[in-house]
Amino acid sequence: MTQSFEDPRKAAEWSAECRKRGQSVGFVPTMGALHAGHLELVKQSELENDVTCVSVFVNPLQFEESEDFAKYPRDIEKDFALLASVGCDLLFTGELTQFFPELDGDPAHTERIQNVDPGPRACGLEGAHRNGHFDGVAKIVRRLFELIVPTRAYFGEKDYQQSLVVEDLARALGYPVIRRVPTFREPSGLAYSSRNARLSEAERDVAIQLSRGLFAARDAWRTGERNAEALTQRIRGEFKGPGLEVEYVELRDPARWEQGGLTGEVTAARALVAARLGGVRLMDNLDLDETAIANRETD
Ligand code: PAJ
Repeated sequence: MTQSFEDPRKAAEWSAECRKRGQSVGFVPTMGALHAGHLELVKQSELENDVTCVSVFVNPLQFEESEDFAKYPRDIEKDFALLASVGCDLLFTGELTQFFPELDGDPAHTERIQNVDPGPRACGLEGAHRNGHFDGVAKIVRRLFELIVPTRAYFGEKDYQQSLVVEDLARALGYPVIRRVPTFREPSGLAYSSRNARLSEAERDVAIQLSRGLFAARDAWRTGERNAEALTQRIRGEFKGPGLEVEYVELRDPARWEQGGLTGEVTAARALVAARLGGVRLMDNLDLDETAIANRETD
């Protein structure tokens, strides 16, 4: 049976009791408006752990624009029903002041929250386009880890750079094991995202161009294309709009993660894209070399 708590301290107690019983605790942090992509993470956690808990908290610290925060979709009843349908053990929510008692009940005093270094892999891409975003992610993720002390925590490749930042954070803290789950897509190729709920039917057709571009570059890679500029061009060639404002298209070597993106001939590449469409921010990414992924997974 799925339990739910509206107080993160209760979730912390629950998790501590599970660990005391010798159970492994899988943890999936989310901002709610759950969809099939989130559920992939939950299912993976259920396969690998004795119990699984999910947090739903729209973290204001990671939003640059208060409008984006206000418009973020919220539907906790539907979230609970979805989690119950996959047999998740616990859903918990909370207020900013509950997650951060140092605020003394005043959500305006965010300067009282200790800074958490999101590390070098937060630079560029999302870090460059969303001021303070990864500082906010690092603060909440650290606090969530401190509360739950999970055995394993699950993050999606959909937010690839975030998964790298969280890996570094977990290493610095000494826990938990971070598991990265591949992006789950609609049959059209569009990556599931809570923000898709804000797209009109016509905008969805445009949003699909992001994944179409990435898969076009993967096709080019498959036929031997290794030039970064040509691969980038293949991606941009699919971005036809209308209304698509591209923020970045960049190739990075996942192992080196050098700033500024790859140029010239490359041997490994993950392509990352972000764009705005009618006030909605869209993101996607793909490893262009499928064989590299297959090899990594058998490591
Ligand atoms: P949110 O956007 O709700 O995403 C929660 C987790 O679900 C993230 O790890 C994200 O990468 C993963 N996810 C989202 N869409 C996915 C998809 N289509 N396929 C696979 N995984 C997907 O990311 C956040 O929340 C927040 O930044 C958070 C980590 C909770 C901190 O506030």
